[in-house]
Amino acid sequence: MAINKKMEQAFNEQINKEYFSEYLYLAMKARFADMNLEGFVNWFDIQVQEERAHAEGMYNYVLERGGQIELFSIDKPAIKGTTPVEIFRQVLEHEEFVTSRINAVADVADEVKDRAALIFLNWYIKEQVEEEASVGGVLAKLELIGDDKQGLLALDKELATRVFNPPVIG
Ligand code: FEO
Repeated sequence: MAINKKMEQAFNEQINKEYFSEYLYLAMKARFADMNLEGFVNWFDIQVQEERAHAEGMYNYVLERGGQIELFSIDKPAIKGTTPVEIFRQVLEHEEFVTSRINAVADVADEVKDRAALIFLNWYIKEQVEEEASVGGVLAKLELIGDDKQGLLALDKELATRVFNPPVIG
């Protein structure tokens, strides 16, 4: 069944949000590189790859459903804070925003009774729970660490161990 136009538009808008996320994390990665926190750089590098995979997953899905891809302009990312804890507060805020947008795409699938799209979107809904938990975990540690440089370096070491596992979407 051909994809509904409203559904197609919702996917195209979400593809843009996922590419924006990639762009935002790419900008944040550079901030951590400036701070010489290589573990955080690794963490953001993986985040960047995940966001691209999220965008590509939807891109491929729209094509698979016979829909049309429309790519919108990607906004310039603005980083609000300067310290690791401030940046991670923004990451969490951003992921919560993405969760709300994914839910909005699922609402459209509900509205147009696109069951296949709903099943496909379940992966993203579950992924957002993991994303918020993972970001929230780092943020909680940063809040605990406060101004303790040793603590920050220990966390940096921990984040250096994160590896990228290409997601299997859908
Ligand atoms: Fe694509 Fe971080 O959600």
